[in-house]
Amino acid sequence: MRRPILAANWKMNMDSAALRAFTDRFIPLVANAKAVDVVIAPPFTLLDRLAQQIAGTAIQSAGQNVHPEESGAFTGEIAAGMLADMGCTYAIVGHSERRALFGESSAWVAQKATALLRHRIRPIVCVGETLEQRDAGQALEVVATQIGESLAGVASDQAEQVVVAYEPVWAIGTGRTATPEIAQQAHEHIRKQLSAQFGEAGNRIRIQYGGSVKPETVYALMAQPDIDGALVGGASLDPEAFARIVLFQDQRIS
Ligand code: PGA
Repeated sequence: MRRPILAANWKMNMDSAALRAFTDRFIPLVANAKAVDVVIAPPFTLLDRLAQQIAGTAIQSAGQNVHPEESGAFTGEIAAGMLADMGCTYAIVGHSERRALFGESSAWVAQKATALLRHRIRPIVCVGETLEQRDAGQALEVVATQIGESLAGVASDQAEQVVVAYEPVWAIGTGRTATPEIAQQAHEHIRKQLSAQFGEAGNRIRIQYGGSVKPETVYALMAQPDIDGALVGGASLDPEAFARIVLFQDQRIS
């Protein structure tokens, strides 16, 4: 009942030549992937070119960040309306790199999410615990607090527009994917919280897993009842690997 969503987070990678090489290869590979949402979040500088190259396909584009204000003296920042102008239908907010390296709080992330919703852009709200927090037995509690605070400004009738990405920090870029069981445990916990906060709409919110997702690991993750998608960093830079992730149904290893 929840449409799978496979999203590429390119972080600070790729240029226009690399984008062209990627889309030339990737677009035909996923042409038949009709039952899933495919999203690419390139650096801001490539949003316009990406929009041109995916025109006429079902692929959607996303920002990697946004500023909550509509416009003004915020040198170096990008507003939600500007992302909408570039054709973005999604934007990532609260990625753990932004929380850790740029000091973003959940309250700040909440402002970004509501700014996006005002512009009909679906926020992909990232949460996840550090290894230290997991080892201290605090993983589920930390994630619950992040969700509560990051989604504080979302009304029930908008909740369905939100995507939550559970990305344990210890699994990001480390090659260490959470096992499907560990991921499912966190997702189930998140699902219960979303249902408590948003009622029936909470059941329709998609929850992505992120952290070293690879073509070899995506099937077992997606087979879990509360895992509705993947947010993919490293593997999404390779068109073949990301296409195999989009076609996760075909990756069953028997
Ligand atoms: P990774 O990144 O797939 O390279 O671990 C995921 C993310 O940070 O969104």
